[in-house]
Amino acid sequence: MKRVLVTGGAGFIGSNFVHYLLGHTDGVECLVNLDALTYAGNLENLTAVESDTRYHFVKGDIRDQKLVDNLFCEHNFDTVVHFAAESHVDRSIEEPELFLTTNIVGTQTLLDAAKRHWKIDPEDKYSREYCEGVKYLQVSTDEVYGALGATGMFTEKTPLQPNSPYSSSKAGADLIVRAYHETYGMPVNITRCSNNYGPYQFPEKLIPLMIHNACNDKSLPVYGDGMQIRDWLHVSDHCAAIATVLEKGKVGEVYNIGGNNEKANIEIVRLILQELGKPESLITHVKDRPGHDRRYAIDNTKITTELGWAPAYTFEQGIHETIQWYLNHMEWVERITSGDYQKYYRDMYQKAQQP
Ligand code: NAD
Ligand code: DAU
Repeated sequence: MKRVLVTGGAGFIGSNFVHYLLGHTDGVECLVNLDALTYAGNLENLTAVESDTRYHFVKGDIRDQKLVDNLFCEHNFDTVVHFAAESHVDRSIEEPELFLTTNIVGTQTLLDAAKRHWKIDPEDKYSREYCEGVKYLQVSTDEVYGALGATGMFTEKTPLQPNSPYSSSKAGADLIVRAYHETYGMPVNITRCSNNYGPYQFPEKLIPLMIHNACNDKSLPVYGDGMQIRDWLHVSDHCAAIATVLEKGKVGEVYNIGGNNEKANIEIVRLILQELGKPESLITHVKDRPGHDRRYAIDNTKITTELGWAPAYTFEQGIHETIQWYLNHMEWVERITSGDYQKYYRDMYQKAQQP
């Protein structure tokens, strides 16, 4: 039976993962969700699991070493799944420092706590022996590989060439995780997934933002020519892949996660308008994101052939369900887009008005 620390479990993917793990396995004895509840964290995403006696929520910061240590002492975790991060590229361009401290220092704080609690002899700094069955999983992103041209795909051997403060902070975190494995023998895995979509995604990201604006007959801000390509995966397939890596991933290895589903942004925006019965005249081409990566595409051969994971969703089914989910949860969207988000939206998109 596993005792799991999930960080960032009140965010988009983290909350889907908490639902996934508690719903799909009886191998979890205890799951603690450590989340600072930034603008992106929302406990409303977790109301369905609140009464599960295995589930505990702790409001706190991953950079708080004392808190993290106390949680390890209290709950005796054998598994860490680290989602917590500043995750939005546009915000990282405005505020890089926050991304570096949260994403890099936060990761190192967790690794240190895990090392202290999992080493068989914590006093022996050269010992590489860890308690049986422990694992630290770093949830990373395909953005660490940088941008692709018209052809080719990211494999686990592609060099890291991040282009935004967000992706470089994630790459920095990946390198620290790697260093803890190489230097201290920490049992780790890193997963690098492509763009996720699905329920509970904050409406600053492409798909929920476009659904929300289209429903309100507001303009749909497409960066540049809209021909940038992303490789989309339903969040529940990402969660299943992480669970697979936890169970079967070879210690020290990196696994790319993706579903071979490349789409240009403009295609996605048109599809959303079509599904909602809204006119294409709502599309507005605005100034491009600085340093905007042109194309991402994941080669998923390693995880599919070595670990047997495969996505369950087709994009057509997933996007249809996702649009319906947002239509059925408009109050959830309205609640999280009131207040501070309105100011963020005005500041961000006023600057981007001119193509
Ligand atoms: P999100 O922004 O929706 O959620 C992040 C969560 O982390 C929030 O609940 C927030 O409150 C919490 N958090 C932020 N700073 C914290 C801190 N200092 N201490 C504790 N909690 C803190 O992000 P997401 O889209 O769910 O992404 C989750 C992870 O997956 C991130 O590490 C991201 O880099 C990675 N990822 C995301 C995608 C994607 O398409 N969204 C794809 C691949 C990888
Ligand atoms: O690839 C994985 C990454 O996917 C994750 O690591 C990040 O956490 C996640 O935010 C996401 O990054 P992107 O930058 O690809 O996602 P975003 O939804 O911000 O943008 C998707 C594409 O849509 C991108 O090419 C920019 C474009 N876009 C986005 C917004 C918000 C627009 O054209 N207009 C917009 O208003």
